[in-house]
Amino acid sequence: MFLRRYRWPIFLIVALAFLATIAPLSARFAPSRSPTFPINDHQYSDPSKTPSTGPIRGSHACPTTPPTPALNPDTQGRFDWRTIPRHYSVEQYSQLPLGQPSPRPSVQHTFGTESMEARNETVLRKEAVRDVFQRCWKSYKDRAWTKDELAPISGGARDTFGSWGATLVDSLDTLWIMEMKQEFAVAVDAAVQIDFGPKIDGEINVFETIIRYLGGFLGAYDVSGCHDARLLNKAIEVADMAYASFDTPNRMPVSRWSPKTAVNGEEQLPAESVLIAEAASASVEFTRLSQLTGDMRYFDAISRVTDVLDKQQGLTKLPGMWPISVNMRKPDLTFDGFFGLGAMADSVYEYLPKMHQLLNGIGPVAAQYHKMYEYAMSTAITHTLFRPMVHDKADILIAGGSVNGERNAKGQHLVCFAGGMFALGGRLFENSTHIDIGRKISEGCAWTYKNAPNGIMPEVFSMTPCPTLSACDYTPQPGSSPFTDVGDGRYVLRPEAIESIFYMYRITGESKYQDIAWEMFQAISTHTRTEFANAAIGDVMKTPVEKYDSMESFWLSETLKYFYLIFSDPDEISLDTFVFNTEAHPFSIP
Ligand SMILES: *[C@@H]1O[C@H](CO)[C@@H](O)[C@H](O)[C@H]1NC(C)=O
Ligand SMILES: *[C@@H]1O[C@H](CO)[C@@H](O)[C@H](O)[C@H]1NC(C)=O
Repeated sequence: MFLRRYRWPIFLIVALAFLATIAPLSARFAPSRSPTFPINDHQYSDPSKTPSTGPIRGSHACPTTPPTPALNPDTQGRFDWRTIPRHYSVEQYSQLPLGQPSPRPSVQHTFGTESMEARNETVLRKEAVRDVFQRCWKSYKDRAWTKDELAPISGGARDTFGSWGATLVDSLDTLWIMEMKQEFAVAVDAAVQIDFGPKIDGEINVFETIIRYLGGFLGAYDVSGCHDARLLNKAIEVADMAYASFDTPNRMPVSRWSPKTAVNGEEQLPAESVLIAEAASASVEFTRLSQLTGDMRYFDAISRVTDVLDKQQGLTKLPGMWPISVNMRKPDLTFDGFFGLGAMADSVYEYLPKMHQLLNGIGPVAAQYHKMYEYAMSTAITHTLFRPMVHDKADILIAGGSVNGERNAKGQHLVCFAGGMFALGGRLFENSTHIDIGRKISEGCAWTYKNAPNGIMPEVFSMTPCPTLSACDYTPQPGSSPFTDVGDGRYVLRPEAIESIFYMYRITGESKYQDIAWEMFQAISTHTRTEFANAAIGDVMKTPVEKYDSMESFWLSETLKYFYLIFSDPDEISLDTFVFNTEAHPFSIP
């Protein structure tokens, strides 16, 4: 749920003014004195030799409290991002809140036993999802190994996210979850060889690097039971690179960032116009890394961003929400008039309840995330949601936007994640209104899939809104489209709709969500299938659909993972023991 190649008014990312360094040598970052942890204690069960121990359950050996002293990574002779010149040191690091977690309402429904027929059907569906994954994985391995993406039509390979093997790292935890343990071991062996040193000229997108690579390593480490220290080492390596982008006068990060500039010791400044999602969604990943390493630099870095969001939440043009474009150099989050839960903002909101859950609800810090969530959602409910006029008067909601004070009745595939977010928040904070809204948004996405010509929702569309969130009368033209306009007809293998349907199933226990998922899966897997894998669609409104040669890493890391998990035993990656980052990487809640 990101901004990825999205057509919206594109805001200028102002070029960074780099100043020559005048920092004295003493400002170099002194590595902390702490033990290097072992890197060779990994062990995987080989399913062909040992009896399977069954799917991942809630119990695991991950630490319950942050280690002290902090773990120090073993970079194995690779570039050490901790040694680059530093300009703005931090006097005191914010600390993770410690203490007893307060009793938390359970997120998941308490499931009973399924009938044998239903169970058999679910297992068949799950295997169908895994077949699609396995086919894509084999082609990636044969044709694009260690590249960022497989090109699914030409059968070639493509580097799109830093050339570090985005699909490889993004898929690790899915391999584990789908019980492809041997493939997992091979993939981990390859992924730990990736060199995140500053080889790249030009800028990288720090946000994408954090959610895909840092998230990928952390998810793989957590789901496999925190056994393989090599994965944690890699997570630290990526995070130390990303952390260098926070070395600015006000400690706000540079989102489009030049690793070379940082290594050369030139001064870095945050941009004056930056997308809020890029500026402020590292919280879940950095917090999990501080929990696992005891190194508070990461948690400190995101806490400073959260404090800025908190201070300015009531000062924006739509108090409670933050606009899509913000100035992180001042920082000033108040000048832009575009608001919404969708593209370019999404994960900022998504991470508010997830941070509360990851922190186990402990202390004033967790309370801060709760407060910010409540405020943001009450504004979003009043100003951005609408009920579309539809022929069957379905009781659904679409999350639109607000532009200079006016509601914008546009829907996006990306914003479908909001159904799951509201339902999760509703459970965590015991607010049935939010669960109800989460249901209506999720079902709005399902309705849109079902009523689009090929059973797949377009990327961006408009619908006629009812005056209020209640039903309204409407007589459609016979055979007319449910959309008044399709602004962008692509389907790029995105996960957000199935993500919310997955949350609804786990939270309510209603099997109708599995049936919705199965219909969506069949439409998607049929229309996107290529000789080698699955490809993005150029226009879902055309029949037959036209595919193009792209398969982003989130197809394997998110979309197929959520499809697989909705047909799995509900204890597998339970929403009570794991928090998903915005790239569907599950992190253990300590
Ligand atoms: C379910 O599947 C098993 C084999 O996997 C089969 O023996 C059994 O008859 C099936 N039960 C039903 C009710 O379909
Ligand atoms: C639930 O959420 C709604 C909308 O955000 C809010 O108005 C209401 O006060 C909340 N209820 C509780 C019990 O927190």
